[in-house]
Amino acid sequence: MIPTPHINVSEQDIIAETVLMPGDPLRAKFIAETYLESPIQFNTIRNMFGYSGTYKGKKLSVMGSGMGMPSIGIYSYELIHFYGVKNIIRIGSCGALQKNIKIRDIIIGMSASTTSNFASQYNLPGTYAPTASWSLMKKAVAIADSKGIETKVGNVLSADVFYDEDTDSWRKWANMGVLAIEMEAAALYMNASRAGVNALGIFTVSDSFTSHEVTTAEERQNSFTSMMEIALECALD
Ligand code: ADE
Repeated sequence: MIPTPHINVSEQDIIAETVLMPGDPLRAKFIAETYLESPIQFNTIRNMFGYSGTYKGKKLSVMGSGMGMPSIGIYSYELIHFYGVKNIIRIGSCGALQKNIKIRDIIIGMSASTTSNFASQYNLPGTYAPTASWSLMKKAVAIADSKGIETKVGNVLSADVFYDEDTDSWRKWANMGVLAIEMEAAALYMNASRAGVNALGIFTVSDSFTSHEVTTAEERQNSFTSMMEIALECALD
C-alpha cells in the first residue's frame, strides 16, 4: 500500500534498502547534500525530508525520523513494511550517564532499555530486550576501529521524557550500566526485530548528566562528522 500516509513515494525502488535516519529532517538534507551523489528528495510530508542518492556508487537513502518513539515508530514501520527497507541506521545525539563518557564521544547502542510502552503491542509474557542488529553493529565497530575513532558500545536508554524534572531516575539507569539517554532506538530496534530486518543506533554525546557539560553547535558538527562516516561506510557492502 504505497504511497503511505507519511511518505509520499509511489515507486518502491526510489527508497534504498539502507536508510540513515537522523532525528532532524534538516540534518537529513545536510547529509544528502554533503555526502550523496545525485541526491533526489523523495519526501516532504510534514517536512520530514527524505532523500535518495548514491554513496561511493551504492544506492543509499537518508530521512528524518522526528523525535521520540511514536515518530520513529511510524517512519521506520512504513519504510520497512511498504518500501522494502532492510537496514536502518539511526544517527543521533544522546546525554551521557556515566562519568567516563565525555561530550563528543561516540556511542553504539548494542541494546536499548526504555521507559516507553512500545513493546506492549506484542503481548509478550515478559520483558523484551530491544537489541541492535549484530551484523550492522559488528561492521560499525570495525569501521570505527579502522578509522581510529573510539566508540563506547553498550546499553542506551530510550526515554519518553526529555524534561524529567520531578525524578532523578537517570541515576538508577546509570547504576545499571546504561551509557546514555536518547529517545528513539528502542522503538526502531523493536520494529526491525519484529520484521526480521536490521537496525542500529549510533550516537554522539551532546550533553552529560554527570558533568552538566553541553556541546556547542560547532562541536556537535565536528563530532557528527565522525558518526556520519561510520554510518555511511556501514551502508556499503
Ligand atoms: N538527546 C540528547 N541529549 C538527550 C538527553 N539529555 N535526554 C534525552 N535525549 C537526548
